[in-house]
Formats: sequence, structure tokens, C-alpha cells
Amino acid sequence: MTMMPNFSLAASTRDADVVAIPVAKGPLVLGDGDGSGIDAAFLEASGFEGKSGEVLVVPGPTRTTVMVGVGPVAKVDAHVLRRASAAVVRASWKRTSVALCLLEAVPEGMDRAEAVKALVEGAGLAAYRYTVHKSEPKPCRVAEVTVIAEVTEHPGLQRVIEHAGAVVEAVCLARDLVNEPPGSMTPVRLADVAVEVGERAGLSVEVIDEEGAVDLGLGGLLGVAQGSDHPPRLVKMIWNPAGTATASVALVGKGITFDSGGLSLKTGEGMMTMKSDMAGAAAVLATMSVLPVLKPGVSVVGYLAVAENMPSGKAIRPGDVLRTRAGKTVEVLNTDAEGRLVLADALALAVEDGADAIVDLATLTGACVVALGSRIAGMMGTSDGLRDQLQAAAHSADERLWPLPLPGEYRKHIDSDVADLKNIGNGRYAGALTAGLFLKEFTGKVPWAHLDIAGPAFVDADDAWVAKGATGFGIRTLLAFLDAYVPVGADADADGADEEV
Ligand code: BES
Ligand code: ZN
Ligand code: ZN
Repeated sequence: MTMMPNFSLAASTRDADVVAIPVAKGPLVLGDGDGSGIDAAFLEASGFEGKSGEVLVVPGPTRTTVMVGVGPVAKVDAHVLRRASAAVVRASWKRTSVALCLLEAVPEGMDRAEAVKALVEGAGLAAYRYTVHKSEPKPCRVAEVTVIAEVTEHPGLQRVIEHAGAVVEAVCLARDLVNEPPGSMTPVRLADVAVEVGERAGLSVEVIDEEGAVDLGLGGLLGVAQGSDHPPRLVKMIWNPAGTATASVALVGKGITFDSGGLSLKTGEGMMTMKSDMAGAAAVLATMSVLPVLKPGVSVVGYLAVAENMPSGKAIRPGDVLRTRAGKTVEVLNTDAEGRLVLADALALAVEDGADAIVDLATLTGACVVALGSRIAGMMGTSDGLRDQLQAAAHSADERLWPLPLPGEYRKHIDSDVADLKNIGNGRYAGALTAGLFLKEFTGKVPWAHLDIAGPAFVDADDAWVAKGATGFGIRTLLAFLDAYVPVGADADADGADEEV
């Protein structure tokens, strides 16, 4: 597991190697730090503008000062602070201890706990780098991050630090799982990790193996996996709060440990990042792993639909028909549209288990990446209330979701000539929506939201607290969502009936 820094509170910067001081923009307003001796005239002369995330590293005889921009005073919020602490850690990569005097930038009236949480997240997530296979690894050496706050605040903030640290750990766990080469992160291995991590955290974990999948009729999962030498797994991770749960929420993750496309083989280029096709499952696993720390008031069941999509003499062929758990048959016309096949079974199980709401995360379509790029996930669903709550949670996490429709007019595009459904739409248009419409078929009357994370789950460059490679996108959104969850109903027009017009 990639190391992450230890987080603590202190009243003074003591013997930290690096002291970070906020600078607000125009006219420059510097935090005090503990008297770095740096003044506004010096900063202006060096061209420093105080823009959000801008840093100036000023080495000194005993310690280094990192001046970090936070933009205009009036606009300082959790997002700005998260970015600022991330920038500080990136600028302090080879130092051991960093003291953050960034609460000095928190405006009157802003929740200090929110601010501290953002600082810990920014610092912890920016310190991540996947170095497991490097002969000369250059990991972040920052081992200690100290948030400077007045002593009287410490008791109240201690728990905030611990919780935020646990969240960072979960995101980094998901990043590690996705970054690991697909030859070693096989379905069986991912299921083993879920058991190990889940049980250590205090969850109950059930694993359905190939035989179990046959017994349960998980035809979508089995169909996708049949071309691979690695058998599939369906993992259930369960969290129940103490006392009466206010509702039961299901989280469903697409866990294709490698997506070659199957017989509808991807191009060499298209396959290069396809170890990331398990990012939805990794996000669900990681989210589940911190619930015993964060203790939301809802029951949560995580479903990981885990398989490898490979071509072989045993693989499903375009034209084959699969019978899913829900009894609906699917004509597979493109074996590369495999995510919806494994999710169909997992969604059906969530419905059967009596979920009050379902949220799925899946690196589902290239079309969604074309539409929204690498920072924004597409969101579809059957409940305005659910989508609103997810949107609010995403906002607090600084992860972006953009609403996409599930147009009844397009439902006919997934009609099959020979089965109940086909697994692709007509032509190349609206690929993210036809995928969403397909999933909707398996959600019954349960309020459901689908997050297509194909873009933001895996990126090609570091950016603030986002690490290159696997990002862990969605975990902090889900945690904020579960923490604030209030029961919802489905939209009046989304009762599971086809909305054909
Ligand atoms: N895993 C891919 C989607 C994907 C593409 C994720 C790019 C991340 C980056 C998915 O299984 C897939 O291949 N979808 C096809 C569906 C098509 C055949 C209907 C796609 O989007 O091309
Ligand atoms: Zn695919
Ligand atoms: Zn896929």
C-alpha cells in the first residue's frame, strides 16, 4: 500500500521543515505564519499574484517557507483550501514535515471543520504516487502534515483530522487497486482484497464465485467472463449502522479488471488504459471500507461485479444471447459493451435485496468521455431527489457530475430482433444514454442513479489533488452523499415502465 503522510494538529509550526503561508490576491494579504519575515513587497517583486494554487518556495537558513495563493479573500472556500494544501505538498515533495498555516485564510463564518477536512484531503491526495514497479521510486517524502490551529480548537478538530485521514487512505487504496497491472489484479484477487479490507474494517463480506453465479443465474457476468482464464466474482460488502437504519442504499461498481473488448477487440491504443475499467468497483470497495469510521445512519450494501473481458475460443460472440439474473435476455452484438452486462446482474441483485436507492459507478462508455472529458462524470437516473443529493455531495467533494437524460424516445434503440434487449444502440450516437437506458431496465421501481465515470476515473496528468493514473473519483462524493442521505422516491414517470413515445 502506498504510504500516506500522518496528519496532526499543533498550535505552532515547531520544527517542521516547511511552513506554508497563505497569500490572498490583490492587494496581497499574507498570513502571519510564525514570522517568516517575507513581506508583500518581496512577493510582488517576485511576480507572485496570489492566484489560487500558485506557490513560491522561499528557502531559508533553518526551514523553507512556501507561500501559497488562495485567490481573492472573499472567495476562499473548501475547494480553494484543498487546492492550496495540494500545491504545498507538491512543492514540498522531498521534505519530511510540513506545517500548514492555512487556516489563517479561512474567512469569518466559514466552518473550520470543513476547512481542516479540505486541507487534509488536499495534502493527502496530492502526496499519492504509484511507484510500486519503479526501480528508483520518487515517492512523496512528506511523512508529517501538521495543521496549525489554536489549542482551544484542537479537541473539536481532532476527529475531523482522523476522519479526513481515513478518507484519504480509502481514495489511495482505490488508486492502488486500479493502478496495479491487470495481470495481477485479476477478479479473484480483487475479490480477495475486498474480503481482506472489508473484514479488517468490520464489514461483512460475501463472495459469489463462478459456481454461485451459475446457481444464481448471473448470465451477464458469466457471459462476459467466459472468454477469460480468470473466473468472475460478485462481491457483496455490507455495512449496518448501530440502531435502526434510516434506509438501505446499494452501491454498485463495474469491476472489469481488464477490458480488451473481447472478440469485438479494442485497438492497441484503446486498450492501453483498460486496467482502469474496474474503477467503479474499486470506488465502491474503498467507500465501504471507511463506513465503520464515518458511521452514516443508513445501511449500505456494496456490490462489485468483477470479471475480465478477453477474446478466446470460449469467449461470447457477437450474436450470442445471455439470460440475465432478472430473466431478461440480451443479444450481445458488441462484446466491448460488457459493463452493462455485468451491471445488469448486480443491479438486479440490489433490487432483489430490497435496496431503497441504488447508485452505480461505472467506466461505462467512451461516448461519455467524448461528451464531458476527463474531469466530469455523466449522471443519469430515475429520481430527481437522488440526483440532487448526489449533485450536492459532488459539489462538496469538488468532483463534478453533469446530468444527462434517459430519453424514452431512445429506448427502442436497444430493442433486439431476437432477444429482449441488445447491448448496443443504433449507430454511434448517444452512446452514454443508450448504456444508461440499458441499465435502467434492471433497476425495477427503485430510485436509481448511474454515474458514468469513464472520463475522470483515470487521467493522464497530475492536477492539484488529482493524481495521474487512477484518481479514486467518486469515493468522496459517495461518502458525503451517504452521510447526508435522506430517503427519496422515484420520479413519477420512472416506474420501470418503458417510456416509449
Ligand atoms: N470500458 C469501456 C468504456 C471506456 C472507454 C472507459 C474509454 C474508459 C475510457 C466500455 O466497456 C466500452 O468499451 N464501451 C464501448 C461501448 C460500445 C461498444 C457500445 C464504447 O464506449 O466504445
Ligand atoms: Zn468494453
Ligand atoms: Zn469496459
